[in-house]
Amino acid sequence: MSSAPLLESNVSLRPYNTFGMEVKARLFARFTSVEELRALLALPEVQQAEKLVLGGGSNLLFTQDFDGVVLKNEIYGLEIIGQDEATDSALVRAGAGESWHGLVQYTLDQNLNGIENLSLIPGTVGAAPLQNIGAYGAELKDTFDHLEAVEISTGELHTFTHEQCGFGYRESVFKGPLKNRFIVTGVVLRLHRSHQPNVGYGAIKTTLQDMGIESEPTARQVSDAVISIRRSKLPDPAQIGNAGSFFKNPELSQQKFDELKARYADLPGYPVPGGVKVPAAWLIEQCGWKGQRRGPYGVHDRQALVLVNHGGAQGQDIRDLAYEIIASVREKFGVELHPEVNIL
Ligand code: EPU
Repeated sequence: MSSAPLLESNVSLRPYNTFGMEVKARLFARFTSVEELRALLALPEVQQAEKLVLGGGSNLLFTQDFDGVVLKNEIYGLEIIGQDEATDSALVRAGAGESWHGLVQYTLDQNLNGIENLSLIPGTVGAAPLQNIGAYGAELKDTFDHLEAVEISTGELHTFTHEQCGFGYRESVFKGPLKNRFIVTGVVLRLHRSHQPNVGYGAIKTTLQDMGIESEPTARQVSDAVISIRRSKLPDPAQIGNAGSFFKNPELSQQKFDELKARYADLPGYPVPGGVKVPAAWLIEQCGWKGQRRGPYGVHDRQALVLVNHGGAQGQDIRDLAYEIIASVREKFGVELHPEVNIL
């Protein structure tokens, strides 16, 4: 058994969360392999402490110091582990600590298609399945094959198939019944060589046209279009602290949607099984929040779903703003918004 990595005390988490919150972890360690992770999990200090596994820290808001142990996942490695001539596909394995966008670039370099619509999503590979990341008409679950994860209580390595992950809209079993029980160490995707671009999302079509690409875009061109859309709408966490969409898009019953549509003819909606999904950004913007600034924090001026820290904001301030937004959307539309970001 390998020896446990160094366990540090009182470590600033500022570099490890994209909101840029200045909070401290009581204990902190990095692991670069399953063996190192197991060695850490076997330490009494770690066993007794509340545990938080950090990938890119791009989907959480710290409102206070973390009185437990932060385990930073730094398991790397990108490789093709299998080819299937019949389906013209390949299995790609990525260490959970790899950057998600780095994986997208790697697969494009290998002429493998399937995750180009998910370009430039911040965060790590290991965090992607937890909330079934999605953007521009694609979700992780569309190409996901299986994942490997260490059970915290036993240190055993388990494999989870697609079905066992229970994916939904920004959901998986790892946010539900298996919350805080497993640490993802590797993810395997099935990607294809023959390209079927997924360009149904309006903004992709118009951006490709602006780029002068009229038909049959390559996966790389779709990736470039997505990167250009994201850069134009979403703040770069390296410049302005944020965690992407702060809220999930709510799903309404058809009846509720029809009621609102009668009052607000412009209300956008997308049919989903059992109802209609509406953009939270639209509801928030209608309540007057878009671009509002309260000193060091506020609502992004180009995408109302994104809360931003311009520098020096406290996590509690941003949490309180989120609850004010939820209350105002509830009052105006009778719709309940739920945070997508993990508030700690
Ligand atoms: N809209 C507004 N005001 C705004 C922004 C958008 O009214 O300020 C309305 C418009 O009607 C627009 C619609 O909302 O057509 C949809 O906007 P957008 O395409 O920007 O997508 P979104 O629903 O706001 C979701 C994801 C994003 C993802 C985009 C693109 C969620 C919670 N968010 O946002 O994911 O990038 O679609 O596919 O599902 C993230 O999860 O962190 C994230 C950024």
